[in-house]
Amino acid sequence: MAMIKPKFLPSQALKFQNINERNLNSSFSFRFSRHVCNSYSSSKPNSSSSSRISDETWRMVADFDPKIPLEEAYTPPSSWYTDPSFYELELDRVFYRGWQAVGFTEQITNCNDFFTGRLGDVHFIVCRDVNGKLHAFHNVCRHHASLLVSGSGKMPCFVCPYHGWTYALDGVLLKATRISGIKNFDVNEFGLKPLKVATWGPFVLINLDKDIQPQQEADSKIVSDEWLGSCSELLSSNGIDSSLIYVCRREYTIECNWKVFCDNYLDGGYHVPYAHKNLASGLELASYSTTIFEKVSVQRCDSGSTEGGDDFDRLGSKALYAFIYPNFMINRYGPWMDTNLVLPLGPRKCQVIFDYFLVASLKDDKAFIDRSLEESERVQMEDITLCEGVQKGLESPAYCSGRYAPTVEKAMHHFHCLLQENLNK
Ligand code: FES
Ligand SMILES: [Fe+2]
Repeated sequence: MAMIKPKFLPSQALKFQNINERNLNSSFSFRFSRHVCNSYSSSKPNSSSSSRISDETWRMVADFDPKIPLEEAYTPPSSWYTDPSFYELELDRVFYRGWQAVGFTEQITNCNDFFTGRLGDVHFIVCRDVNGKLHAFHNVCRHHASLLVSGSGKMPCFVCPYHGWTYALDGVLLKATRISGIKNFDVNEFGLKPLKVATWGPFVLINLDKDIQPQQEADSKIVSDEWLGSCSELLSSNGIDSSLIYVCRREYTIECNWKVFCDNYLDGGYHVPYAHKNLASGLELASYSTTIFEKVSVQRCDSGSTEGGDDFDRLGSKALYAFIYPNFMINRYGPWMDTNLVLPLGPRKCQVIFDYFLVASLKDDKAFIDRSLEESERVQMEDITLCEGVQKGLESPAYCSGRYAPTVEKAMHHFHCLLQENLNK
């Protein structure tokens, strides 16, 4: 039998180098950048700060060439899924720029509603002020940097748990406790730091790019063009809209790089007959199709007989799975919509937030809702096992890079091409 040699890419050869030394260098450069005020978005390609990113990290980026056609392409090297400096570059270039889905509009329906979240090192609050105006802020107290609030709900004002500084929901500092004797202190300079916020359909988005002015809620047409491009109409005309009723949230912490979860989502149903046998029985996998847009890919599949073989039908006749670069998925099937937000928590860890929405006519059908959530949970647990297994394989010296199955994995290839181009910008 012929022996097949593994293909070692340039930066892969460094996999066995002194890893500690490399990690120290990269963490130093990014730690340094965090000392500079407002520098969570640390570098533009031609700025001097680009030099803080090591040559080795750039070599990793270059190890995947988006110009190579899918049929000939190797997948990105495993360093993309394991290396701390590559992860830091992703935070900077991918997550700290552009529109990011962070929640849904029902979370901030009324005045004084708020929710909090985190993207990399950026902790944020989204809230509606007393006049109904939507805002987003860094969730950091201007006194000594305590996180200001957690979770979600309704509050008349935000009171810092540390020393009680108090902010209105429009970000204004209302009260700085026990500061008598302080000099040169202007209360107007110590409001919460604002972020750009927008809504599209049922979703709330923020933009952490420090170059844009966060004065007011962004125009939703502009957001739609930037976030969804030419796919926006297809989504809104396929039942992805604000008429659905919010049901519940499920959160999963997974021991894998955030892209492992995305890749798993983007394989065009390839893994479904092997890994989700119950789900496979409810889908017509031969009808699976993938359409690529600028920053969105849409996978579609007809649904056939029911999942469990009885009358229960959560999938309806068609399923649509939209992936919005970099980390947001919208799944619309039968009476359901669920969204998956994949949040990076480190090179080898991510959190996936599932939010479930349902057509209004079924909102009180508890038996149907419970059974649907149970089936969905089963699929998630199967995917988590797959993803954590892949991460372990990516850590192994046995694996560097794989190949794509061209007829089914084009959405995954598109994702990798977008990421490579994004990192280079
Ligand atoms: S850190 Fe918030 S009041 Fe001191
Ligand atoms: Fe799956």
